[in-house]
Amino acid sequence: MNGAFEKHILCIGAGYVGGPTMAMIAAKCPQYLVTIFDINEQKIRAWQTDNLPIFEPGLLNIVKRVRGKNLFFSTEIKENIRKADIIFVSVNTPTKSFGEGAGKSADLQYWEKTARDILKSSESDKIIVEKSTLPVRTASAMERILNSSDKKIKFEVVSNPEFLAEGTAIADLENPDRVLIGSQETESGRKARNEIVEIYANWVHRDKIITSNIWSSELSKLVANAFLAQRISSINSISALCEKTEADINEVANAVGKDSRICNKFLNASVGFGGSCFKKDILNLVYICESYGLNEVAEYWEHVVKINEYQQRRFVQNINKALFNTIANKRIALFGFAFKANTGDIRESPGIYIAKKLLEEQAHVVVTDPKALGNAKQELKGLSDKLEFEIEPYKAAKNAHAIAVVTEWDTYKTLDYGEIFQQMEKPAFIFDGRNILNHQRLY
Ligand code: NAD
Ligand code: UGA
Repeated sequence: MNGAFEKHILCIGAGYVGGPTMAMIAAKCPQYLVTIFDINEQKIRAWQTDNLPIFEPGLLNIVKRVRGKNLFFSTEIKENIRKADIIFVSVNTPTKSFGEGAGKSADLQYWEKTARDILKSSESDKIIVEKSTLPVRTASAMERILNSSDKKIKFEVVSNPEFLAEGTAIADLENPDRVLIGSQETESGRKARNEIVEIYANWVHRDKIITSNIWSSELSKLVANAFLAQRISSINSISALCEKTEADINEVANAVGKDSRICNKFLNASVGFGGSCFKKDILNLVYICESYGLNEVAEYWEHVVKINEYQQRRFVQNINKALFNTIANKRIALFGFAFKANTGDIRESPGIYIAKKLLEEQAHVVVTDPKALGNAKQELKGLSDKLEFEIEPYKAAKNAHAIAVVTEWDTYKTLDYGEIFQQMEKPAFIFDGRNILNHQRLY
């Protein structure tokens, strides 16, 4: 017990997952005191204002409802760990960029640091919840670190991967398809698992709360992302065949998706999937398979990423080819830079690859995006003097030879393309990388 609250929940990592997830728990469970800690002080300060560090529809509303009541953002770690009954760890787990496993395996240094911080400051038993996406069997490493001291403290590690998608995070958290909670199949493991079940049961129907052993839980998260990405690569691979055969990818996706066993979700052909997780999680899966000698399995999944790279490459090649194999000094407007609509996040966005490739060809690139322009400027800073940023799509397209739709923002679906077309160089082209306009190009 901590004061008037039943439990004290701490979350380490105030990013795209930690922030929204804890805001939802605080909103649905006024009986718990929820604190979010991050090593990035600037981020914590932003969470304390109305200018949140991430854009997510509906997030500010929820944060404002609970901030200062039972939701707090803090840069103080020791006391918060000491007081916590349950600690969610939601730090980043990027692809390792150095040494053994570079380019594939997960970089667990941020993860491991949290385990050591927790051990250092703990004075009582705690449940540690893996919220980050982790390689299967990470919990055993966490447990070894936590139990490596002679402090008489019991740490129970539970896996509770997050399935929210950016742009719809609040709706996903409020009404998830499922909540997955895995633990060791021991008495204390099951007891800890039940404590986490009770948090979610405050608003999620118990039928949707799945419990499993801890390894199944860790692995299911990687597999869910791999399956989603696999569907996109499958339809994108067929889009290449459609372009050769005059079959229409939308018609094919529609016909295939009508089969209730296949369904129509995640069958939108595109310029490729982006986002911080699909690629990293598949590569992590590939690495894990390789490390167990399952080379055929590894190769199978690696192809999902290869097709994604092929699709992005093909998109730029198509632009170049349509514009008579020379794009030097041609003005090309990128409509969108975020990796998907309704977010300002540009991590692994196909826009990064496209902009860089077009600049290499000495095109004059104008980037527009309603929420990601600041991040785009950071990412592309200093790359070329032929680079412009423009918030207004009509202005970005003015005098352009081509528009490339990179992000499926609703606002790009409803623009007056007749008017835009009038202002463009002729012949004018639109390359619909997000398949939202029902036409590949206008002349
Ligand atoms: P993020 O980069 O937005 O946030 C991670 C935060 O952790 C950062 O603010 C960073 O400063 C902080 N951090 C790192 N080390 C720390 C430490 N030792 N102590 C305190 N804070 C520390 O990342 P994210 O997008 O929130 O992803 C977090 C995890 O959740 C990843 O494993 C990711 O794969 C997984 N995930 C992400 C999403 C998503 O939509 N972004 C969805 C599901 C799962
Ligand atoms: C994805 C998963 O959907 C979440 O369940 C998961 O929790 C999350 O990854 C994660 O682990 O980080 P997210 O990357 O936020 O969520 O967004 P998605 O909606 O999955 O879109 C990913 C990418 O695929 C975007 O670039 C999107 O434009 C693209 N996409 C999506 C397509 O190209 N075609 C589609 O049919 C669907």
